[in-house]
Amino acid sequence: MAHILLLPGDGIGPEVLDATSRVLGWFTQNRNFAASTETALVGGTAFETLGTPAPDETIAKAKAADAVLFGAVGGPQWDGLAFDKKPERGLLRLRKDLELFANLRPALCFDALKDASSLRPEIVAGLDILIVRELTGGVYFGEPKEITDLPDGQKRAVDTQVYTTSEIERIARVAFELARLRGKRVASAEKSNVMVTGVLWRQVVTRVHAAEFSDVELTHILADNCAMQLVRNPKQFDVIVTDNLFGDILSDEAAQATGSIGMLPSASLGAKDPATGKQASLYEPVHGSAPDSAGQGLANPIACILSLAMALRYSFARVDDAVLLEKAVERVLAEGYRTGDIMQDGMTKVGTDGMTDAILKALAALS
Ligand code: IPM
Ligand code: MG
Repeated sequence: MAHILLLPGDGIGPEVLDATSRVLGWFTQNRNFAASTETALVGGTAFETLGTPAPDETIAKAKAADAVLFGAVGGPQWDGLAFDKKPERGLLRLRKDLELFANLRPALCFDALKDASSLRPEIVAGLDILIVRELTGGVYFGEPKEITDLPDGQKRAVDTQVYTTSEIERIARVAFELARLRGKRVASAEKSNVMVTGVLWRQVVTRVHAAEFSDVELTHILADNCAMQLVRNPKQFDVIVTDNLFGDILSDEAAQATGSIGMLPSASLGAKDPATGKQASLYEPVHGSAPDSAGQGLANPIACILSLAMALRYSFARVDDAVLLEKAVERVLAEGYRTGDIMQDGMTKVGTDGMTDAILKALAALS
């Protein structure tokens, strides 16, 4: 029996996770997927009830689960909190404590939405790239990370960018292995012209490639150029592997290129335990908590629902079910169902429930 932990979080998180639970329920009822779920607190909502955005019991439950489905965290009411109480700490602690070092962010342009991008349709039609972001190292977690007082009354803030050989090796391997299942091309993005972490990054990626993955094509690209190429000609890429901070930025940019950040799922994976085969995993939409539209039933649930598809594929080896769910989403888009964020002339506007109903109907029709 698969055990899935649901972490709805803040803003539209609970709404999109409810929608996703309904879809999960469809798979348990109709596709023999034996799964049980449990819900726990994270983010601002956890802070309100338990005084911390990352409660120990939530972390313990996440460690015990076979997969975590995460909604979103954050909201303006928590902006003034101390750094270690901010909702985002909940997500960052989960990533760190579960050692979810590999963040997979596909940027896929759905044919029905190619006119929704701020880029020209011919630039984005058929776009299918995968950003592999290192998620537990780099400047997000490097020490020292502090603000200190200087004798002259100023303050001094330090973040530390740090990478070790093994951290780079393991994320490079994930990228090369995934590239083998796709277009067999990896672009590695860093700033080796300015940063020594970039120099080491390039050396290690080059060595791993030569030793283990010479069947995959590797190119190196400076991260700023990569940002530019993503809006100039995003289809030149297959897999992009990059560090935590560049991955944060480049994945938002790639998401916008597809026209619909509300559509994009992500997976964060740990290492597979060689003895038990168990692998920590967390699945979440790329979008945030969208506090402005929270509680109104308007949120687009597709990114969260497609995150469930990634869970079916990567955590539960149910590739057929993942494909079925992705096809169902494609079908409702082709049928013209749109939430407000992706609304276009002549289409049928629906809310969170309406979109979920349509996806459930498409699942029934396709299976
Ligand atoms: C993301 C988000 C997070 C990050 C925030 C919410 C901490 O932007 O997952 O990309 O910076 O990693
Ligand atoms: Mg981000």
